[in-house]
Parts: sequence; structure tokens; C-alpha cells
Amino acid sequence: MCGIFGAICQGAVSNTLKALKLLEYRGYDSAGFAANRGDVIEICKTEGRIAALERLAQGVAETDVAIGHTRWATHGAVCAQNAHPFLSPDGRFAIVHNGIIENYLDLKKYLGKKVFSSQTDSETVAYLLEKEYRGDVLQAVLRVAQMLQGSFAIAITAVNERKLYAIKNKSPLVVGFGEGAYLCSDIRCISRWANSVAVTPDGTVAEISPDGARFFRFDGSPVAVNFFTPEQGENVAETSGDFMLKEIYEIPRKLVLAKNGYFDSGGLNLPERRAGSFRKIYFIGCGTAYNSGLQVSAVARQWFGIDVTPVIASEFVYGNYPVDGHTLAFFISQSGETADTVRAVERVRAAGGYAYAVTNTASSSLTFACDRTVNICAGGEYAVASTKAYNCQLVTLTLLMLDVALGRGAISRQSYRYFLREMDSLPQAVMRALKSDDEITRLAEKIKDVSALFYIGRIADYPTACEGSLKLKEISYIHSEAYPAGELKHGALALMDSDVAVVAISTFDALSDKTASSVNEIAARGAMVITVSDRVFENSLPLIIPKVHPALAGIASVVPLQLLAYRTAKSLGRDVDKPRNLAKSVTVE
Ligand code: G6P
Repeated sequence: MCGIFGAICQGAVSNTLKALKLLEYRGYDSAGFAANRGDVIEICKTEGRIAALERLAQGVAETDVAIGHTRWATHGAVCAQNAHPFLSPDGRFAIVHNGIIENYLDLKKYLGKKVFSSQTDSETVAYLLEKEYRGDVLQAVLRVAQMLQGSFAIAITAVNERKLYAIKNKSPLVVGFGEGAYLCSDIRCISRWANSVAVTPDGTVAEISPDGARFFRFDGSPVAVNFFTPEQGENVAETSGDFMLKEIYEIPRKLVLAKNGYFDSGGLNLPERRAGSFRKIYFIGCGTAYNSGLQVSAVARQWFGIDVTPVIASEFVYGNYPVDGHTLAFFISQSGETADTVRAVERVRAAGGYAYAVTNTASSSLTFACDRTVNICAGGEYAVASTKAYNCQLVTLTLLMLDVALGRGAISRQSYRYFLREMDSLPQAVMRALKSDDEITRLAEKIKDVSALFYIGRIADYPTACEGSLKLKEISYIHSEAYPAGELKHGALALMDSDVAVVAISTFDALSDKTASSVNEIAARGAMVITVSDRVFENSLPLIIPKVHPALAGIASVVPLQLLAYRTAKSLGRDVDKPRNLAKSVTVE
């Protein structure tokens, strides 16, 4: 994670600070920038948020070359010392880094007995640049690039150079041009400044000047890189209030865009020669993206007659899951930059499988790694806890599975059309669910002091329980777990007492009597039960949701749970958009 930005333009310091605000979702425990003033580089850095850096920067004069960083700690505690940028001991180079230098201990040995100012892996790069500099900055950068192992996007500025340098491997890095020259770890962010951008390939060094950019492999041979016009980023920096709440309230509108976007981009559209040959289907992702795969795999099995295996990306990478030329793997990622997910693509492609990206970010690392991409059209999502992207992932994955089912003859054209029509009722259903916000706020007051929450559901309600539980723990810090409802009696029932609350989701009529039994069993042990359903259950606090087809119910029934997490976190005074220890885009394994 971490966000990096570099600028060669008028007002480079203030533009870097603006960019760091947009990048803050990538990490927010410390931040800093380097202002290059010709023969000297001035460093300004602090622990805390960008707002703290802005205060510190008030006395810093403008310049036209700067690099900046917002940090999510991997090596070394959260403190100003470990904040980026780092200077080489002679002050010639300043660097910022996103990723992990895996061999930094060996590199420290190679550097000899140097005293380092920080505990980070990143600082070694600044020291190496000094050691490898023999009069030519580009050559020094190339020599250092060859020494590094791991994942890294590194921005470098050097005294007396109106250029920026970058070293890129397995961490996102985009180069762009507009009124000036820029580099950044996020294409949406850089598109606020650049109207022509290039995604830097892995294993590449970039030399960026106001006149253009040159790209080299680490051995110094040139690489051709295509520039293109990025989609313009949304205007987010000025939004007041919490992004999470705003993003939840956008869901009805985004559901329409997700469905239309899917068909506008051509639907499933697998290569004709392979379309009929897929025997194994995977949904692969992390966090909320994994939960969306879990949800639609339950739907596909239950209602569309398709077997899909959902796998957590980090498990897939090392887990020896079978892959061959008959494998179709869908990689789900809001950001398109999650390192575990991108690594999993490499495994599938190396074994001849077909990699299909389901993402919210066109031109992301995931898009470039996969054979085909479909955009979920959720628009920029900035709260660390994902909400609208989840709902849009559900729409897109459901449409993909409907197309697979139709192609295999597992469902009729008539039922295909029926499901599409049913989908059109979802925005209304979500709008009605949002009307319960006041009631949810009251429920949040009731659960905010419990010691733990359990979320339960069966079949496609179980993944909804997983997502509701994830949202709550991410932003309220209350311990919570999800259980398939029938499994509760095999362990977790031991924990039920008046200090615990349970949220039971029930959208599948055929199983609602089972839910009623679970509710009674829990209530009998003194725990408070909230039911999320279109029907009322005895011994529980009901949160009524509109009735939709159970195959699509998860898209609406998760909304009260997203709101419940938000309202609970708010009533506990948490920073909902930037929860402790987390980041929106996790670009390290
Ligand atoms: C992080 C975020 C989660 C997100 C997960 C996957 O852990 O905090 O909210 O669900 O990454 O992110 P992706 O961008 O791949 O969907």
C-alpha cells in the first residue's frame, strides 16, 4: 500500500500535497514530501494524516520538483523517523517507496556499517543510490534497480536534476503528462493532473522530464510503453461528511450503472474457441471482493446449476488449486491493485487458464494481467470499508453467471430474461431498505456495547452474513464472526449470553422455519437477536427488508448491514473512512 506522487510542474509542493490527500486511502499513518530546490533537497515529514503534513508544510517554500508519500507501515513503527521520503547521507538523492524490499538486510550488509535514520527497508535505496552514483543518475538508478528484490514502486529525485526517476516492480506506478510531468501509484489520482498516462511495466526504470519519459529494463535496454488518455477521476477531495455513508446512499443508482455497463461492454464475451471448454470456474479475491464471489457462487449453485469455487486470493497463490487450459478464473477486485489477487492471476495464466478481471478500476494492474476485464461501474470508492463496490460486484458476477448458465443450457432463455427483469427491481428495494436508517441508528445504540456479534444465515444468506460481519469489525472494532446458521449449535452457541448480539439474515422462504428455530435457540440463551428479513420472527428485533428473488436478495439485504456497521462505528466515535491498521488498497502480499 502507501501512496506515492511526484511532480515536475509549477507549485510542485502544493500539488503534491493535494495528490497525497487523494492517495490517503492507501495509508494514513504518516506522510511526507521532498522539495527539490536545485542544489539542495528539503524534506518535510510527520507522523499522522495529511492534514498534519499540511500544517507542517506551511513554512515550506514552493518549488517545481517534488515527490511525496503517504504511509501504511510494513517495516518499522509508525513515527516521523520512519516516514518517507528518505535522503541519501550526502543529501544528493531523496526517495519514496511503496512495497517491500525483501532483501534489504543483505543490502544493508552490502552497504557496510552505516547508521540508518529509520527502521525501514526503504531507506536502503537512498543509501544504495549514493554508493552507486558515479556521475550519472540514470546509470545509478539502473544499477540499484538490479540489486532490489521484492515489490516496489520507488520515486527518486536528485539534486540539480529537473527530472524524476522511478523503479517499478509489482507495485503500481503510472507516469503522466499534463501541465507538467507526474508519477503516481494511482491512475485515478494522476488523471486529475495528466491527460496522457502510461502504466509502467514490471521490471522497468522510468526517467521522466517535462519533455517526455523514457523507460528501460533494469539491464538498461529501452522499453516501448504506450500512453493513453485516462478516464477523468471524480471530484472527491472536496466532499464533506463521511465517504462511507455517501457511498452506501449511491447504491441504488450504481446498481443500474453496473447492469447497463455489463451489457454495454459486451457481456461475458469469452473467446469463441474456448467458450465451451471451461470445466472449472473460480472466483478469486480478498476481503469484500472475496465475499462477493462467495455470495454469487452460492447463487450460481442454488439457482443457475453452476459449480463455482470461491477462493481467497492469498490461499490460491500457495494452495495448489488445480488449474489447466480448461480453467476459467474470475479475479474480483475493487481497486484492481490488491497484490494477493494480482499474484493469483500469474498462477492461472502460467498454467494456461483464462483470467477474467472483475474490477472497478480500468487500467489497473489486474486489468493488464488478465485476458479480459469487465468494469463493475461503481465509480470512485474512497471509504476503506467497501460498500457500493460489493453490491456492484454482485450484480456483475450474477450477470456473468447467468451468461455462463445460458451458454451451457443450464437455464432457459425464459428464466434468463426473468432474472434480468427481477434485477430491475433492486434499486427500488435498496431505496426502501435505506429508509430504515433511523431504525438502524437505534439498533446501533443497542449493539454498540456488546462484547461480540455473530452474523448468521444459510445458503446465499451466509455470504451476506460474512460481509455484514466484516463491515462491522473493520470500522467499529467490535469482535464479530459469521456462521452458517446451522453450524452455530456445533460450537458458537457456547458463547451466547446477554453480552452478545446475533444478526440473523433470512431471505429464502424455504428455510425461514429453520431461521425461526435458530432465533429461538439463541434468544433462549439470553442473546439479543436482530433479524434481517421480509418477515417478522418471534423473540427478535426485526429489520424488515423488501422481498426480492432469493437469488438476488443479497444485493439488497446487505445494505442494512452496511448501514448498521456505519451507525455503530459512528456512535462509538470511530473514524469510519479510515479505520485503524487498514488501508483501501493493499499492494503488498
Ligand atoms: C482491503 C480493504 C478491503 C477490500 C480488500 C480487497 O483489505 O480494506 O475493504 O475489500 O482490500 O480490495 P480490492 O480492491 O481487491 O477489492
